[in-house]
Amino acid sequence: EQSTGKRLRQPIVVVLGHVDHGKTTLLDRIRGTAVTAKEPGLITQHVGASVVPASVIEKLAEPLKKLIPFKLIIPGLLFIDTPGHELFTNLRRRGGSVADFAILVVDINEGFQPQTYESIEILKQRRVPFIVAANKIDKIPGWKSNPNTPFIVSYRKQPQWVQEELERRLWDNVIAKLYEVGFQADRFDRVKDFTRTVAVIPISAKTGEGIAELLAVLAGLAQRYLQNRLRFAEGPAKGVILELREQPGLGTAADVIIYDGVLKRGDLIVTGGLEGPVITRVRALLMPKPLQEIRVAKRELEPVDEVYAAAGVRVVAPDIEKAVAGAPIYVATSEEEAKQLAEKIRRE
Ligand code: GTP
Ligand code: MG
Repeated sequence: EQSTGKRLRQPIVVVLGHVDHGKTTLLDRIRGTAVTAKEPGLITQHVGASVVPASVIEKLAEPLKKLIPFKLIIPGLLFIDTPGHELFTNLRRRGGSVADFAILVVDINEGFQPQTYESIEILKQRRVPFIVAANKIDKIPGWKSNPNTPFIVSYRKQPQWVQEELERRLWDNVIAKLYEVGFQADRFDRVKDFTRTVAVIPISAKTGEGIAELLAVLAGLAQRYLQNRLRFAEGPAKGVILELREQPGLGTAADVIIYDGVLKRGDLIVTGGLEGPVITRVRALLMPKPLQEIRVAKRELEPVDEVYAAAGVRVVAPDIEKAVAGAPIYVATSEEEAKQLAEKIRRE
């Protein structure tokens, strides 16, 4: 609790990168590792996102206490996956627009690819700080995997020629490429100033190697550099529409990421549409049902009365089909304010 009476929300972390470089596998691994940490009930599924609480991050990063000492004051991290296929530039941009922080996933063996460069452009434009996950280290010739082990521990167990091959790929395919697009970068354990140098964490989303360091660096940086952004008033919600979709029986609904405040059923909301701003009221808010077993893929949505930032939620409201994905969404506290917000959106 802060003396300002405001609490910190979860940083919103978007995962970007080229197709097949391992974004979804990485998020599955983080969720799965939390399950093996016997804390499945603590992970909450959101619409288009999932939240990993601080207690789980601390537990997963425990082997690293000496390397990266930290006590988390953020309540957790909210992760948003994005598709890497070239057709989905719009989804990557929308992810980039709500992100406080990003993980750029790069296959250490394949190196930079078109959507890697595109992702970096989005992060540059939006000034989103990021770290790089150099994924698939288990595919480096000669690499002997040590499942669910910190990278540093597994690295020390490899013969010298394998270590050298990792360093070569890390440099040629990732670090040198980052320099070419204007970023100073280094392996995370060689970074002295994280505000100037992009940290690169070698990982395997498949075996779990390096996940502890990835989470420790991510959480440590997020709370060190984002604290002012993360203070959240328990006031009217602000968010962004990620996608519009058909909700059977309910018509069109909007999948929204809330990055500030509280959204309640019945709230007057203002968003942007192709034919001008849309003013409407929230008829229903839908969230995935909490389940003990995290691996159940299909989750039913259930109505909730309110959601607090940071959150991913499906919003059902009359006329929401006139809204457009990527538009901001604001709660208004009066009709008058709704008109002002509509004017603001019209000008944007
Ligand atoms: P898009 O969503 O299509 O952009 O792909 P993605 O980045 O989400 O990649 P995804 O996680 O679907 O992984 C693509 C393939 O790479 C799958 O077959 C994964 O099993 C495999 N893969 C992901 N991470 C690793 C890894 O660390 N090591 C190995 N060997 N394979 C991996
Ligand atoms: Mg994916």
